[in-house]
Amino acid sequence: MSRTLFTVGPVYVAPDTLESMNRPMITHRSKEYKELHGDIVEKIKKTLDTDMDVFLVAGSATAFLEGAIRNGSASRTMGITNGSFGNRSIEIAELNGRTVDKVQVPWGKAMKPEDIEGKVSKDVELVHWVSNESSTGVFSDSVALAKSVREQNPDALIMVDAVTAAYAMDIKVKDMDADAIVFGTQKALALPPGLAIMLCSERMLEKAKTVPNRGFYTDLLKIKKQSDVNYALTTPPVSLMYGLDHQLDKIISEGVQARYARHQRMADMVRDWADRRLAGVFPEEGYRSNSIGVLNRGDLDFDNFHSKLKARGYEISNGYGDVKEKTFRIGHMGDTTPEAIGELLSVMDEILEE
Ligand SMILES: Cc1ncc(COP(=O)(O)O)c(C=O)c1O
Repeated sequence: MSRTLFTVGPVYVAPDTLESMNRPMITHRSKEYKELHGDIVEKIKKTLDTDMDVFLVAGSATAFLEGAIRNGSASRTMGITNGSFGNRSIEIAELNGRTVDKVQVPWGKAMKPEDIEGKVSKDVELVHWVSNESSTGVFSDSVALAKSVREQNPDALIMVDAVTAAYAMDIKVKDMDADAIVFGTQKALALPPGLAIMLCSERMLEKAKTVPNRGFYTDLLKIKKQSDVNYALTTPPVSLMYGLDHQLDKIISEGVQARYARHQRMADMVRDWADRRLAGVFPEEGYRSNSIGVLNRGDLDFDNFHSKLKARGYEISNGYGDVKEKTFRIGHMGDTTPEAIGELLSVMDEILEE
């Protein structure tokens, strides 16, 4: 049985988007491919209002989270974390042999400049954190964090995991002035999984020249050389790129600000429902994600509730990480509409009333 996804990714993909990918294959060293690649890069720059390099690689977003760490540091990073995905980046850095200065912020709380005050030492080469922590539904102010990092250590690079933030909320790319901003196709771009995207700064590329062992797949200098002529380094997911080109056109015609406002409306509906029907939402007030609602379960038997929901054709997401048992999550991003959220919430009401 097919179900409508209100998950945290992969998310619902609209029929017109699926249809846009149904095209004859082209080779990735053709003129047609170059046009497709170049169009996508330009549309990403336009929609995110940036002139940073835009890199594309086949893989999930983690390919570029690892890539940014491998190119942007040789020995020491600082990882700020308030949940599972912040911890994941720290793990990636450590598995790549970096020493990581860790800053742990309580789950459910936003990471704030005061959490890192006096902590960014001179030998930290790269500071990394998650914009929108998908395990807790917290959206931190990355512009404020980046400013604090630069004041303390102007040479430190900054990598921001924007996997569930980009295209759902305004991440203010220019104001943030980060060195790597990473996301993928299966979240607020509302496409199938399979393509990682990185916005990359000049500073990151300069640093990469000094770092040994950048690998092959994740070598940003190799990727840059190909990207400059609108090629991918290795075979790209061409069908998915047709879909991405289509989605970017849709985003341009909706308008990015209108898109962010739609995400805000959906988030407000879910928060209001959680306050009325259950025990509210988990993340602290003022820093709540507009792409993922993380709801306190209260007394709810989630597994039973979710099986009834699935039987009616709707799928949401379990809690994640340390708060897996006490929360559950509703994805409201991409091409999902307030009307669809309204429908989901009324079915959830019916189940609770049964
Ligand atoms: C905030 C965040 N970072 C990283 C990831 C990992 O992304 P991917 O599975 O595309 O590598 C996810 C996936 O859910 C995420 O939500």
